[in-house]
Amino acid sequence: MTATTDATWAAQTPGGTLGPTGRPRPVFPDPLVPERHGPARIVAMVNQKGGVGKTTTTINLGAALAEVGQRVLLVDFDPQGALSVGLGIDPRPLDATVYDLLMEEPDVTVDEVLLSTSVEDMDLLPSNIFLSGAEIRLVNEVAREYALQRILEPLVDGYDIVLIDCQPSLGLLTVNALTCAQSVIIPLECEFFALRGVALLMESITKVQERLNRKLEIDGLLATMYDPRTLHAREVLQTIMQGFGDKVFHTVINRTVRFPDATLAGEPITQFDPTSMGATAYRDLARELLARWPARV
Ligand SMILES: Nc1ncnc2c1ncn2[C@@H]1O[C@H](COP(=O)(O)OP(=O)(O)OP(=O)(O)O)[C@@H](O)[C@H]1O
Ligand SMILES: [Mg+2]
Repeated sequence: MTATTDATWAAQTPGGTLGPTGRPRPVFPDPLVPERHGPARIVAMVNQKGGVGKTTTTINLGAALAEVGQRVLLVDFDPQGALSVGLGIDPRPLDATVYDLLMEEPDVTVDEVLLSTSVEDMDLLPSNIFLSGAEIRLVNEVAREYALQRILEPLVDGYDIVLIDCQPSLGLLTVNALTCAQSVIIPLECEFFALRGVALLMESITKVQERLNRKLEIDGLLATMYDPRTLHAREVLQTIMQGFGDKVFHTVINRTVRFPDATLAGEPITQFDPTSMGATAYRDLARELLARWPARV
């Protein structure tokens, strides 16, 4: 592996050869606009470590995928409701949320929960603090790991991609997300202890693969909040590369205050600052994933 020095970093933007991960940067093809929609690929955004960029990635990857013609459904699966807030929706007063669907409340239908967002072709299933009660209430249910799958089943034909924003825990809600997903994206903050807990996460994924969902794959690990100017961030990225090699996405998300700014504005960065480096990075990630995912037949 080639070490990324300041000189190679400077050379890796247009015309250069190496990406920040130290590998040659591939050119991903222009994504094809789907001729018809569905059935959706379900992708869980998972890391039990808090504040690593799960919600930011769900919003901005979703918006970047919708921009290239994919129909996207975002699922807020965190009682904090940060995904909803980041899309400009205050989930606190909502009467109907994912919680009611999980609890199979007879008077709440999925259409009542489903919200459209400011991004064309991107919808949201919102959550609020009530979701924190779901884990306890689900424990005694039969097939408790399949509750989210039951909710999504009638929806998948109308979308191309479902992104589930998980809470920072490996509890039953996250297991539900892993059970219904085809694949997982693992955001990792380029900071001290980035890999702390990743072994445990991998163990949980393996258990779900063996016991609940044989088709579950790892799409990749996404380095986030990367600051190419600091030796520390470059070293962390190299450690991630040493640990996971080709499982690390070529696309790396740099640290920029435009992300918290966009969250405050309740917009994806692709709308808030469409020409920014951050918007470009999530568009790159969308292209990288669309090139990796098997084409639907
Ligand atoms: N690339 C980035 N550059 C700078 N700030 C970022 C970046 N990505 C995310 N942030 C900020 O870092 C904080 C944590 O990000 P985010 O909420 O996406 O993480 P999370 O993994 O979903 O956290 P939690 O585990 O609490 O759900 C937020 O304030 C967000 O705006
Ligand atoms: Mg989050």
